[in-house]
Amino acid sequence: EKKKQLIGKKILINAGPTHERIDPTRYISNYSSGKMGFALAEECAERGAKVILVSGPVRLKTIHPNIFRIDVESAEEMYNATLSKFSEIDIGILCAAVADYKPLYYSENKIKHKANEPFSLELTSNLDIALALGKMKKSGQILVGFALETENELSNSIEKLQKKNLDFIVLNSLKEKGSGFQTNTNKITIINMIGKQKEFPLKSKKEVAIDIVDYILSL
Ligand code: PMT
Repeated sequence: EKKKQLIGKKILINAGPTHERIDPTRYISNYSSGKMGFALAEECAERGAKVILVSGPVRLKTIHPNIFRIDVESAEEMYNATLSKFSEIDIGILCAAVADYKPLYYSENKIKHKANEPFSLELTSNLDIALALGKMKKSGQILVGFALETENELSNSIEKLQKKNLDFIVLNSLKEKGSGFQTNTNKITIINMIGKQKEFPLKSKKEVAIDIVDYILSL
């Protein structure tokens, strides 16, 4: 039996990728499966929290009755769903791989293929959910972000942590084998506001979720 240390807490988690529509048949996205965010949702729910899980398009099921799931498709939908819930929650964990860019224009009709002609798609920046929540954060609320890096891992993570006003950031690097997208395992380093780092070995995403929740409880 798990210790129910999170009874009475409301936790908002976002997970998965977002799909940015190009036309009725195509979209831009990334490789996120939702596994890391869903493992966090399960772990928080098992410890007694009420969880709001805002999920991009994934193939995963949620089982725990404490998890209230909101499915969204685009970064804009995820932004709206997440921001609308933030004032009622104690802890936010931002695990989603939100697309940084979306097509500037959506084509109502399927874009026709023209052989031998280059084609370019104009993109525009999506809103940053973590940045917005960091600005809204009230004292007593805890905000946790992730950093997915491929180079300059520590300095990039610290920059994101500070810019987005997070309480700590969970770094996972695509340079580490068994880490990041789609795998059932992850290797993380937690970095807090005073720059203190805690490195963990490669573990299952379930175990990584336990470590992250334990870290939150230690704050
Ligand atoms: O889903 P899985 O297959 O299990 O993979 C898990 C994961 C690799 C997706 C996950 O562990 C992870 O690292 N999620 C964050 C991915 C990401 O977009 O990282 P980032 O370094 O680009 O973004 C930094 C932080 O800002 C993240 O908390 C992100 O959610 C947030 N962000 C980014 C862009 C944006 N427009 N809005 C945001 O809120």
